[in-house]
Amino acid sequence: MLSDDVILGRLDSAVTAARNAGDHILNQDISGIRVSPKGLNDSVSETDFAVEEMISDYLREHHPEDGFFGEEQGESGTGNGEGGRWIVDPIDGTDNYIRGIPNFTVSIAYEDHSGRLALGVVFNPVQKELFTGVMGSGAFLNGNPINVSGVTDPSDAVSIIAPPRKNHERTSDYFRLMEDIFLHTRDVRRFGSAAQDLCYVACGRVDAYYEMGLHYYDIAAGMVILSEAGGRYSAFSDSEVLTEDGNILATNGNLQDWYSEKIHDTMGA
Ligand code: IPD
Repeated sequence: MLSDDVILGRLDSAVTAARNAGDHILNQDISGIRVSPKGLNDSVSETDFAVEEMISDYLREHHPEDGFFGEEQGESGTGNGEGGRWIVDPIDGTDNYIRGIPNFTVSIAYEDHSGRLALGVVFNPVQKELFTGVMGSGAFLNGNPINVSGVTDPSDAVSIIAPPRKNHERTSDYFRLMEDIFLHTRDVRRFGSAAQDLCYVACGRVDAYYEMGLHYYDIAAGMVILSEAGGRYSAFSDSEVLTEDGNILATNGNLQDWYSEKIHDTMGA
């Protein structure tokens, strides 16, 4: 168990690193940004690399005992083995960023030395929204406590159901799921930053979020914020463990079983 001082020090560092990263992102002229392909429907911009380097330099300087795992650098620093590990997505929602759509976030999580997630910070620099969560101490948006919604009836629910843009072989299953959920709930959304999507469930803007094929760095910080706001996430209705293919269902808790059943029926997992 980490002491409060250690965790609060790490939280301060994560917030500063995320805000510095946000300033850098906003200072770039996106019309001149170099973008390279990374895989099917996946790209990386030069800003992603620059921001990840800024964040890792800052965190390494202030916490040399910690390891570092980032989307662009991978496992790039092991610390001295006495600290924990940072998990960083420098820009979650790169496609939105390069098109000037204001739904992208800097996502920073911290795991203690036993690998348990201890805190998460998700920052949208355009909207100036800073989501934070520390295990056992609640979740906050710009310093104000947040909670998941109290919606219990699926017909009142609004959910984010993200298409399988990197798993095209699941397209028809996805649209069957989308149709089923759409017909039984109030509406469906798609914003394009997994970290932010989890925070939107956490603060009650939406009631559920489902996406396939995510990576740990997309969701680690958001998972802390969501669970501290009273939400649930899982790959299966009876498990808190994410599948290896990175599928995640996150809800306000009340609706977990309902969405989970729909996903099992349509997607088989
Ligand atoms: C992406 C975002 C997006 C999701 C993609 C992710 P990235 O992260 O989280 O919401 O649909 O699957 O890859 O690549 O922009 O960091």
